[in-house]
Amino acid sequence: MAINIILLGPPGAGKGTQARRLIEERGLVQLSTGDMLREARSSGTEMGKRVAEVMDRGELVTDEIVIGLIREKLGQGGNGFIFDGFPRTLAQADALQALMAEMGQRVDAVIEMRVDDAALVARISGRFTCGNCGEVYHDATKPTAKPGVCDVCGSTDLRRRADDNAESLKTRLMEYYKKTSPLIGYYYVKGNLTPVDGLAQIDVVGAQIGKVLDKIPRWS
Ligand code: AP5
Repeated sequence: MAINIILLGPPGAGKGTQARRLIEERGLVQLSTGDMLREARSSGTEMGKRVAEVMDRGELVTDEIVIGLIREKLGQGGNGFIFDGFPRTLAQADALQALMAEMGQRVDAVIEMRVDDAALVARISGRFTCGNCGEVYHDATKPTAKPGVCDVCGSTDLRRRADDNAESLKTRLMEYYKKTSPLIGYYYVKGNLTPVDGLAQIDVVGAQIGKVLDKIPRWS
């Protein structure tokens, strides 16, 4: 039976960083709507161009587009998913529940990654990623061992995101508080929300998430 988990948290909370660990440790498939949308924007289609404008402003892309992307990925099957950056609105959460029900599955755990706003600004402004393998780095907290070279795949294609700037981050945070934070109450009422201290070191956050997942009956 598949296990499905949601990583919920503001921009820069460490969702992508932890999702990558879980792929290796638990054999789950990462579904990052941010990555899917970045792929769509690089396709150069009309839809991709519209998505790029919205993302660069730091606003949320429409529920219709995002739910469509997730539906397509779920249709391809898999042995459990890590939802990273999805759902982000109540409509997306309802749509996910319906899609899971259609597949005879459920969301087993929702991990709320708690990080204060000042730390988020520092994290986002120092972030860079490998354009080849997607490894996530930070100028201060997780630099590459050799400057300019990815530790994982050796690529020199290290990139910074267009929306990782002070102006767009303000909008991203506002979007989070207005549209995404109500999901904390939504999943609390459903009974599968667990907060973790996202301010701790990366390994410590990973261990906290591991403890939550070990309590899921199929893994305990
Ligand atoms: P998305 O790509 O999902 O971005 P986000 O939610 O803003 O999250 P980030 O990727 O910025 O942060 P993260 O939590 O993954 O942190 P990371 O691990 O990288 O979305 C981008 C845009 O796409 C949105 O603004 C929107 O326009 C659109 N979009 C996406 N999904 C959508 C949806 N469902 N609906 C509508 N629109 C959607 O870590 C950040 C940095 O901190 C890194 O440098 C990392 O090394 C460092 N770090 C991580 N953990 C720690 C730690 N414990 N201690 C110290 N440093 C750490």
